Amino acid sequence: MSKPIPKTQEEIKEMRTACRLAAEVLDYIEPFVQAGVTTAKLDRLCHEYMEKTQHTISATLNYAPPGYSPYPASICTSLNHQVCHGIPGEKSLKKGDILNIDVTIISPAGFYGDTSRMFIIGDASILARRLCQVTYECMWLGIAAVRPGGRLGDIGHVIQQHAESNGFTVVREFCGHGIGRKFHEEPQVLHYGQPNTGVELQSGMIFTIEPMINAGKAAISELSDGWTIVTRDRSLSAQWEHTVLVTEGGVEVLSLSAACPLPPKLASRTLATATASAIAALPPAPTHEPPR
Ligand code: MF3
Ligand code: CO
Ligand code: CO
Repeated sequence: MSKPIPKTQEEIKEMRTACRLAAEVLDYIEPFVQAGVTTAKLDRLCHEYMEKTQHTISATLNYAPPGYSPYPASICTSLNHQVCHGIPGEKSLKKGDILNIDVTIISPAGFYGDTSRMFIIGDASILARRLCQVTYECMWLGIAAVRPGGRLGDIGHVIQQHAESNGFTVVREFCGHGIGRKFHEEPQVLHYGQPNTGVELQSGMIFTIEPMINAGKAAISELSDGWTIVTRDRSLSAQWEHTVLVTEGGVEVLSLSAACPLPPKLASRTLATATASAIAALPPAPTHEPPR
């Protein structure tokens, strides 16, 4: 369990930019996430947007940690019972689906920004909508637990508590992570745990909070493509992700953009208000000129 190194003011500035750019890819793609579109098309659109409009690079394309084959796409698309790292493909979205799109970009200055959202296609079941909502609340409760002098276990605890009290389960095998000039840095941010345990938070630390919550059992399996993680019982799974900075006053969410969803009411009121005004102050994501 090693400690993350707090970022300098200069690095923090660059991380604000990188994380906003990642969020803007999600703003851009949202209107295309409709019944009938393939996840491969969403991947191509995001890739073009990163390259042509943002001048960013996908951090996931050809990403190959030890023991993995290179990841073949510019975004991750995890559908229904897929937990994370789903590979975009030629299957079309249909009404009732729930889809996570996870975007990690490398900014022109060389910093990583990482964020993901759930998209609900048409009228999904009450269960599917409740799972997406509770997972969103889990992420924000985790964010609201971030403060200097607090500990990582505080974050995991509130997430686990909220998921399980709603009858859902927390995936154990994947976690949030420090991020900066590298994709995955110290610390590991578990989405379960005990308050007042784990690494002590210090202002300047930057990491992701990205709970994966299942409607059924917590167990997962990996598909033979070497990447896609699914629930073992094929129950629905949802995930949301923000990159956050520990500040003197508590927390700042870095992966905000003009069209990102607002914090839910149950997260801290100060945090919700500060975040809502930060979102309102952002210019809309640039639109992409389609190729002629
Ligand atoms: N963006 C994911 C995360 O939140 C990691 C995706 S790695 C990939 O950590 F190779 F699957 F793209
Ligand atoms: Co991440
Ligand atoms: Co991510």
